Amino acid sequence: MKFFVDTADVDAIRELAELGMVDGVTTNPSLILKSGRDILEATREIAELIPGPVSAEVVGTSADAMIAEGRKLAKIASNITVKVPLTWDGLKACRILSGEGTMVNVTLCFSANQALVAAKAGATFISPFIGRLDDINLDGMDLIRDIREIYDNYNFETQILAASIRTVNHVTQCALTGADVMTAPPNVIKALALHPLTDKGLEQFMQDWAKTGQKIL
Ligand code: E4P
Repeated sequence: MKFFVDTADVDAIRELAELGMVDGVTTNPSLILKSGRDILEATREIAELIPGPVSAEVVGTSADAMIAEGRKLAKIASNITVKVPLTWDGLKACRILSGEGTMVNVTLCFSANQALVAAKAGATFISPFIGRLDDINLDGMDLIRDIREIYDNYNFETQILAASIRTVNHVTQCALTGADVMTAPPNVIKALALHPLTDKGLEQFMQDWAKTGQKIL
């Protein structure tokens, strides 16, 4: 499973990239707001740092506006993925931009049927939002499982990019289900390495080592 980082914070991306944890990046208008950065500048900087797909989201609501914005964003670098919302206009924009050779990430997906039409429109990535479904007492992971089965039934090439990941358990479940990619905030990715028994075991080893009076270096 590929790891994308869900942030526009360049320092956080760089820190994780140094450990080989970043196969790509996703951003959205809320993350651009949080970063305080100009979208074009931040996207360019991220795309130079990370060779993998870097999603930048359009904000127009008509297909024509999305296509125009998408073309401008795609010119920033060859690894830019244009993110469009899962609306009919978004699907029209997806079809046109994909046909021009631009990677497209169709976002705000909350149903298997939405994922089906996105694949038929030529999406490179579909972004089902797990956490936001959990927020309304549905099981976001059920959606990932359904999309995996549907895409496998018909050999759709669209990659499942599990989004709105809030917990380390979401990451485990995505990997078990066979999501192609998961995108998570930096704090969730960092938490993947944590376990209380690791901390406890290490503490015990350090105490016992101190008693030996030995040194390795
Ligand atoms: C994905 O591309 C989205 O930017 C993101 O995962 C949304 O997450 P949220 O529901 O935590 O805002």
